[in-house]
Amino acid sequence: MKGKSILSLIELDPKEVQKILDLAIILKKEAKRGTFRDLLKGKVLAMIFQKPSTRTRVSFDVAMLQLGGHAINLGSSELQLYRGETIEDTARTLSRYVDAVVARVYGHEDVVRLAKASSVPVINGLSDCYHPTQILADLQTLLEVKGRLKGLKVAWIGDGNNVCNTWLIGASLMGINISVATPKDYRPMKEAITNAQRLAKATAARLEIIDDPIKAVKGADCVITDAIVSMGFDQEREKRLGVFIPRYQVNGEIMGRAKSDAIFMHCLPAKRGEEVTDDVIDGSRSVVWDEAENRLHSQKALLCYLLLDEEFISELL
Ligand code: CP
Ligand code: NVA
Repeated sequence: MKGKSILSLIELDPKEVQKILDLAIILKKEAKRGTFRDLLKGKVLAMIFQKPSTRTRVSFDVAMLQLGGHAINLGSSELQLYRGETIEDTARTLSRYVDAVVARVYGHEDVVRLAKASSVPVINGLSDCYHPTQILADLQTLLEVKGRLKGLKVAWIGDGNNVCNTWLIGASLMGINISVATPKDYRPMKEAITNAQRLAKATAARLEIIDDPIKAVKGADCVITDAIVSMGFDQEREKRLGVFIPRYQVNGEIMGRAKSDAIFMHCLPAKRGEEVTDDVIDGSRSVVWDEAENRLHSQKALLCYLLLDEEFISELL
């Protein structure tokens, strides 16, 4: 898998995801002891951000720093890209300097073009369609809390957005049953559903896309939501709030319908009082801060997986 780009998670097979999660858990434990400080010594990551970011940007930067490498943050207006240089020419140039690129873009096509023209791995740091590094952290969190992934049930309540699309793929890769409840006009992308259905055949994961949040959370081990208004959709704000609230808001009543030991996850940033209420996100079943922390560990693992020899990785596991 050395050298490949990660745009939606579909590039990984279940064994590869499992290895990344195992490595993430080892790196998390070892970080406290200060081991692996030179794992990515001399490696450089370029970070292109077309949109704001707290977790993705900081966790990638810190991941490189803690493993002995370096990250260069390239915000909008700092590259010739924003004066009209093509994505392809930017990719060819960066490939001559750095070992990997992470890019957060508006249109998914931009990160696809970047990856196609790049000779180093490109990691999608969120596009309008997918958010793969978030789902690696979510899977790590679920694994840590529940001790397994296969056969669990996850309920997604809310917008069928980039994070939801990637959850469909992640769940089907790892044999997790997923029930997605969204309003009719806010379903996940067809491409994500089709790919998830194909992957689910190998793992027996059950996928359902429905209207009813109460039905979706029944028997769920984990309830997940995300912003009703994602970045780039601000002009739809009033309309969306009217469609989603109150039915698709994760509140105490919805959590009460899931399993008694169900956890709550959210990729953050949260709009408290919109997709989730304070009592849920701040409640004892919420694991959102561990989930945010795991961005750091799972991205360290992903970077190692993409940049180091497979044999070397196997010795670490
Ligand atoms: N969850 C997530 O990607 O957060 P940021 O937008 O802060 O990077
Ligand atoms: N769906 C959200 C995720 C933010 C991390 C967005 O795209 O804005």
